[in-house]
Amino acid sequence: MYQLLKKEGAARRGQFDTPHGSVQTPAFMNVATAGAIKGAVSAHDLADLKCQVMLCNTYHLHLRPGDKLVHDFGGLHSFTGWQGPILTDSGGFQVFSLSKLRKIKEEGVHFSSHIDGRKIFMGPEESMQIQSHLGSTIAMAFDECIENPSPYDYVADSCARTVRWLKRCRQEMTRLNGLPDTLNPQQMLFGINQGGTFDDLRVAHMQEIAELDLDGYAIGGLAVGEPAEDMYRIIGAVETFMPVNKPRYLMGVGTPVNILEAVHRGVDLFDCVMPTRNGRHAHVFTWEGIRNLLNEKYQLDHAPIDEHCDCPTCRRYSRAYLRHLFKSGEMLAMRLCVMHNLYFYNTLLERIRAALDEGQFEAFYQTHRLVLDKRI
Ligand code: GUN
Ligand code: ZN
Repeated sequence: MYQLLKKEGAARRGQFDTPHGSVQTPAFMNVATAGAIKGAVSAHDLADLKCQVMLCNTYHLHLRPGDKLVHDFGGLHSFTGWQGPILTDSGGFQVFSLSKLRKIKEEGVHFSSHIDGRKIFMGPEESMQIQSHLGSTIAMAFDECIENPSPYDYVADSCARTVRWLKRCRQEMTRLNGLPDTLNPQQMLFGINQGGTFDDLRVAHMQEIAELDLDGYAIGGLAVGEPAEDMYRIIGAVETFMPVNKPRYLMGVGTPVNILEAVHRGVDLFDCVMPTRNGRHAHVFTWEGIRNLLNEKYQLDHAPIDEHCDCPTCRRYSRAYLRHLFKSGEMLAMRLCVMHNLYFYNTLLERIRAALDEGQFEAFYQTHRLVLDKRI
């Protein structure tokens, strides 16, 4: 259940209660695609990084190790050791971005595994069955994430199909939640808004799915190469039509500034591979901007990544040491930078929440929106 605690402009401060604990929103969900945070960060590290929600992928876990195996181990919570809320993406996006030779039909998508080429079928029912086996807190609806740009007529047809798929997802989830051996009988379902960069299709689609009274609503199909301004415009266009009493999730976004801009426009939940992926490549986020630790200027630098950060890495290690670890190909380099970046993202959202609590979000937004994305 979502409670709206406070509003400043369109920005929302809320609390989202789940069977696996409460989430203070706005919140960042930490990406553990195959049940692990890339960069050798474990579930027990996440508590030190202010993580509230872990995100895993249906597509990856279905291919390997298989959702039946995860189910036999008591679901993702026991398998990974993370006891807080877990959101699983539906496979919709990954089927389109990773698999080969896919064929979309009304019943679902036929595709070949990116691991071994094995032929697989996934439709709304299969995605829900897999997510039920995984026992996640929140399941995402099975959708088609359309390429940008796509022709108007294709996007319109695809949106109509995504609505039909969503209704099938809801029906299947109701059935699965009622089975006697289901891992999480209170599993929640979020619908996903699509519509490419066409405002009218976005709004019509949002209005249609809002009527289905789902547990939450996501905006999908963004941050797939379109300019940031298009993304902000679309969020603004659909936000008015998103139910006020449900959490709103912007999928796969983004940079610290993207997140700040989206909170400013009324979004509550985020996920992105950026803190983990960039951290593995020595790109670290700070309150002054973004650093590349491979830069020669850090060779003799005694300071931590960020002087204002009290993450496990910044409390102990210098830029010079981290640079040395990267140059030497030490795995520790990635682990320490990923930990810093996740701590930074989770702290950014914590400070956004504090600013909202104090009625100071507009000032926070104006101070940080031009700074956070600077390369320093
Ligand atoms: N992750 C990022 N964008 C999307 C999307 O449009 N759909 C799904 N299912 N996952 C996403
Ligand atoms: Zn730090």
